[in-house]
Amino acid sequence: MSKVTVVGAGNVGATVANVLAHQDVANEVVLLDIKGDLARGKALDSWQQAPIDYYSTKLIGSEDYADTANSDVVVITAGIPRKPGMSRDDLISTNAKIVTTVTTSILEHSENPIIIIVSNPLDVMTYASHSVSGLSDKRVFGMAGILDTARYRAFLATALKVSPKDIQAVLMGGHGDTMVPLPRYTTVAGIPVTEMIDDTSLDAIVERTKKGGGELVKLMGTSAWYAPGAAAAQMVATILRDEQRIFPCCVKLNGEYGMKDIFLGVPVKLGKNGIEEVLELKLNADEMELLTTSEGHVRQVMQVFDDMNA
Ligand code: NAI
Ligand code: 2OP
Repeated sequence: MSKVTVVGAGNVGATVANVLAHQDVANEVVLLDIKGDLARGKALDSWQQAPIDYYSTKLIGSEDYADTANSDVVVITAGIPRKPGMSRDDLISTNAKIVTTVTTSILEHSENPIIIIVSNPLDVMTYASHSVSGLSDKRVFGMAGILDTARYRAFLATALKVSPKDIQAVLMGGHGDTMVPLPRYTTVAGIPVTEMIDDTSLDAIVERTKKGGGELVKLMGTSAWYAPGAAAAQMVATILRDEQRIFPCCVKLNGEYGMKDIFLGVPVKLGKNGIEEVLELKLNADEMELLTTSEGHVRQVMQVFDDMNA
């Protein structure tokens, strides 16, 4: 029996719940929002899709944390998204309060859940949730790398006119413009990407990836939800199936890559215990410099959170 709670029934949260239901990996998905009717409506709508798309996952909408009791995995998407002209970091003062309150409320009803953060600014919201939760480093982590890597893979698939299924890639660093796509670890059906595309086109794709979230905010007036929701659902399904798959996730580093007390995107192995292993790639000097720049940026925003709570 497995139970998942998704907090925030907005664009991303509702998508996470809907994609998860389609995967039929959880017995129950609770969609919780301060707007209880919105959560109830979206849960009911998704449940009415079950006879059409053939799944059994029960969906419940609520504003009451008692309904989240004994959740195995909790996904936190509550908070405001950015509008055109805003950076993810502009969201910190509003979302830090929401994410810490939600984390505390969840833990009043679930003893030792795995918590996946989605709310932005992602790396610092993961830090915030972890700080107030008292849970192990292996059980509180953030979703961004799967999304950012998916954008990079999708852009490459378009440029190379191949299926996105055949593009494998790693991307590291914070969820912002300093993220670090890694062409040296990118393959097309096993072929190094650098043998398939010229440097100028690849550089342009790397730059577009870094600003991929902003591109969608400009188009829609709010941030994306289909790919973000699917990415978080993939993490939950991997955990519930104990698949030991490797994805970039935002985790607390304890000396890996020479970094400590920082939440940053790195490749990890995901399984039933959450983060089963942090993988340490042998980055070259250029890659390490980019990762260090990204680390510096995330540390600045972590400091903003610390100052808010001083
Ligand atoms: P949205 O505005 O559609 O939904 C947010 C929901 O949170 C709303 O329904 C709101 O009522 C709810 N909420 C606010 N305070 C709450 C509280 N205290 N308790 C429970 N629910 C509460 O926003 P959207 O598009 O779903 O984005 C959610 C967050 O996810 C944003 O911060 C956004 O920046 C972030 N995001 C992160 C991504 C990532 O890669 N990590 C990708 C896409 C979005
Ligand atoms: C994104 O990258 C806003 O972080 C969100 O789409």
